Amino acid sequence: MSDIQGPDKSARHVAVIMDGNGRWATARGLERLKGHVKGVDRVRELVRACPDFGIEYLTIFAFSTENWKRSEREVTGLMNLFRRYIRGEAETLNKDKVRVRFIGDRSRLDAKLQGLMAELEKLTEKNTRLNLTVALNYGGRDEITRAVQRMAKAVKLGMLKPEEISEASISNFLDTADIPDPDLVIRTSGEYRTSNFLPWQCAYAEYIFTETAWPDFTLKEVVKTLNDYNGRDRRFGATAIR
Ligand code: IPE
Ligand code: IPE
Ligand code: MG
Repeated sequence: MSDIQGPDKSARHVAVIMDGNGRWATARGLERLKGHVKGVDRVRELVRACPDFGIEYLTIFAFSTENWKRSEREVTGLMNLFRRYIRGEAETLNKDKVRVRFIGDRSRLDAKLQGLMAELEKLTEKNTRLNLTVALNYGGRDEITRAVQRMAKAVKLGMLKPEEISEASISNFLDTADIPDPDLVIRTSGEYRTSNFLPWQCAYAEYIFTETAWPDFTLKEVVKTLNDYNGRDRRFGATAIR
C-alpha cells in the first residue's frame, strides 16, 4: 500500500500528458535530459500507486510524433531512457501484475527499442492489476490516419462494408482498441492544450491542468487532482443532476 491517503473514489482510466521536464531542469541549471530522468521517478511512483487509488488504466504520453523536432541530443537521450526504463522495470512491472501496452507508430523507432517493447508486452500480457499504456511516437492524427488506411484496405479486401463503419468499428481500428476511453486527462506544467493526445478517445474526458512540472508531480498532487475530478459533474450531454 502507498503511505499516502488515497482519493475518495477514482477515475477508472487516467491519462497523463507529462509536461515540463525540460523547464524543470533548465530552472535548476541542469541539462533538459536530467528533467526527463527525474520524470521517470514520478512514473514509477504513480504506476505503483494506481491500484491503491482504484485506477485500472493509466496511459502516459512519453513521446509525441512532433517531438522529433527536438535536438538530436535530446531525442537520442530520450530513446536511451526508454530502453533503460523498459530493461530496468520489466521484472518489477510483471511482478506487480501490470500489463504494459504501447500505442503510436513504432516503425520509426529503432529496432532494439521496438524489440524491447514487444517483449515487455508479451511478458505482461496476462496481467490484470493495472493496464499501463505508454504512448511512444504517438500522435492522435497520425493514429487516426493509420486507422483509416487500414479500414480502407479492409473495405477493398471485402472484409469491411462501408455501412459497417461506426464509432465502435473506428475505435477498434485505433491503437487503443480494447482500452476504454480515458475519464480524466491530467496535463502538468501550465500548458493549456492537448498536443494531439488521444483526440478521438478523449471526446468526453475531463481535463485537469496543473502548474506543477511533471518531475514535481508527487502522489500528493495526484490525489488532489483525483479529488478535483471527483467533484466534477459528468453529464455526457444530459441534463445537470444538481
Ligand atoms: C515533457 O517535458 C516530456 C516530453 C515531451 C518527452 P518537456 O520536455 O516537454 O518539458 P518542457 O515542456 O520543455 O518543459
Ligand atoms: C506533449 O508535450 C508530449 C509529451 C508529453 C510526450 P510537448 O511539450 O511536446 O507539447 P507542446 O510542444 O508543448 O505542445
Ligand atoms: Mg513540453
